[in-house]
Amino acid sequence: MKVLGIVGGAKRDGNTVRLVEEVLAGAKEVGHETILLKLVDIQIGHLGDRNGETTFPKDGFDEIKPYIESMDALVLGAPIWFSTVDSRTHVFIQRLYYYSRYYSEENKSRWPEGAKAVNVITYGDDDPHIYDSVLAWLKDSERRWGMKNIECIVAENTGERPVNARMGLLKRARDIGKKL
Ligand SMILES: Cc1cc2nc3c(=O)[nH]c(=O)nc-3n(C[C@H](O)[C@H](O)[C@H](O)COP(=O)(O)O)c2cc1C
Repeated sequence: MKVLGIVGGAKRDGNTVRLVEEVLAGAKEVGHETILLKLVDIQIGHLGDRNGETTFPKDGFDEIKPYIESMDALVLGAPIWFSTVDSRTHVFIQRLYYYSRYYSEENKSRWPEGAKAVNVITYGDDDPHIYDSVLAWLKDSERRWGMKNIECIVAENTGERPVNARMGLLKRARDIGKKL
């Protein structure tokens, strides 16, 4: 299987990256092919409009497309910013409109129907359920895209309890990767 990790946020080595890396390490351990893309390193812009038709900027999304089109599983990691996924993750999700049948049936045929999805969110609040609505939204979006949500990984209170020090959580992330 090809497992694609996509991480939003502004950090290259933050809590979210750490957890997604651990899922990918588990997947690699059992023989899957893995790749991690950090959105902080890829410039992707907003959808536009020309005379009522959605337009797509020419940008770094082009380099992500081959990975999307060949993925069997997506591990999507996002820090929570202002009570939702960070801006880079938001833009990434919205750029998937490229594969929507409302935009192009031909592009839609290149979407990997049935791919698995693992969601990772990390945040500062100490309530492990406070952003359940964000997870519900992510799962609903993935269901609409014909994906199968496997697991969600939540790291709350990352200010006081950074992911690196949470061995149980890291093990769970690795186990999820192994079971993909
Ligand atoms: C701009 C910004 C907005 C944030 N908004 C929230 C928030 O609404 N709720 C929350 O619990 N944490 C919030 N945080 C904290 C981050 O979600 C938390 O530090 C997260 O684990 C960072 O992940 P990273 O280490 O991968 O960057 C915010 C952080 C930043 C930088």
